[in-house]
Amino acid sequence: MTDGKQPVLRDTRFAVWIGATAGLFVFALAVGFIWLPSAQRGADGLDLWAAICRAVGLPNGNARISAPIAGQPASQVAWTTETRRRLAQGNASVGAALAQVCNDCHGTAGISADAIIPNLAGQSAAAIYKQLDDYKSGKRDPALMGVYVFPLSDQNLLDLAAHYALLPSPSGDAVSTQSSTSTVARRLIDVGAPLRGIAPCASCHGPVGVTPGAPGLDGQQRAYLELQMQSFKDGTRRNDISEQMRSVARQLTSEEIAMLAAHYSSISDTGGR
Ligand code: HEC
Ligand code: HEC
Repeated sequence: MTDGKQPVLRDTRFAVWIGATAGLFVFALAVGFIWLPSAQRGADGLDLWAAICRAVGLPNGNARISAPIAGQPASQVAWTTETRRRLAQGNASVGAALAQVCNDCHGTAGISADAIIPNLAGQSAAAIYKQLDDYKSGKRDPALMGVYVFPLSDQNLLDLAAHYALLPSPSGDAVSTQSSTSTVARRLIDVGAPLRGIAPCASCHGPVGVTPGAPGLDGQQRAYLELQMQSFKDGTRRNDISEQMRSVARQLTSEEIAMLAAHYSSISDTGGR
């Protein structure tokens, strides 16, 4: 102080610099995490919270709900050579006899009369077997299906899968064909939404590519499809290996889910799985 200089903190220019830097920081936060996300949310079909989460770098505000439980695999089924070898050992005629119990709900021809009960006709044996095993192990909520599956042996599950896979596929709900040809659904199916990390549905569910165990969706019951996508989204269904389907569903809005369900339920099975 003897040389007459002011202490650094009293220097007004210094205070102005600090103030300006702090102001700029707050301004940048507001622009980057609030203003830009709120401007983008409409275009990407996100709500404000989801848009802010994306800007911050979190996959979604709800991501925590369905985070994997440490040490617990999503399913007991793994797509090994052994599993494939076992699948080939399913006996469809034994399966047809076992299916008597299932017919009341899933239909004699594997096509259900109730929109909330899935069709099984023409579904891939791998997909059916995995779901039955997941009900049996409790990896998929067994509240409804458990009572029918618990008494069955692994061979029984393979036989049932072989039986349903051989039945002719459903041909889609002709009534809704006109109204449901939505471009939003078609884009998600063929192109996905790269900015939101959504791969095209067709790359896993066919006809472009088929991920092991991914069920065919064409001609499936509308209400069933919608409920399953919502359940993956909110994490109440979590039996998909490596969160393949949850990571897609979390990014979908409820409107998109409804459009996708309408679309898939209205088209005939093209055999693309
Ligand atoms: C009381 C009605 C009822 C009976 C009987 C029944 N199911 Fe189901 N099943 C359902 C319902 C409802 C669902 C979907 C909702 C759920 O998972 O709880 C379902 C789901 C399934 C799925 C999953 C399909 C998919 O696309 O993921 C398979 C496979 C299945 N059932 C096979 C069977 C077999 C095989 C039997 C006989 C051993 C059977 N079900 C008996 C009602 C029934
Ligand atoms: C990365 C691959 C992948 C992509 C992309 C994908 N899915 Fe899936 N999806 C799966 C797998 C695998 C399953 C089966 C999960 C299981 O094992 O239970 C599944 C299951 C489903 C189910 C439940 C079907 C049933 O019978 O229970 C629906 C509905 C579904 N997906 C719809 C979609 C839609 C619509 C899209 C596009 C927006 C999509 N998926 C994109 C892999 C994918």
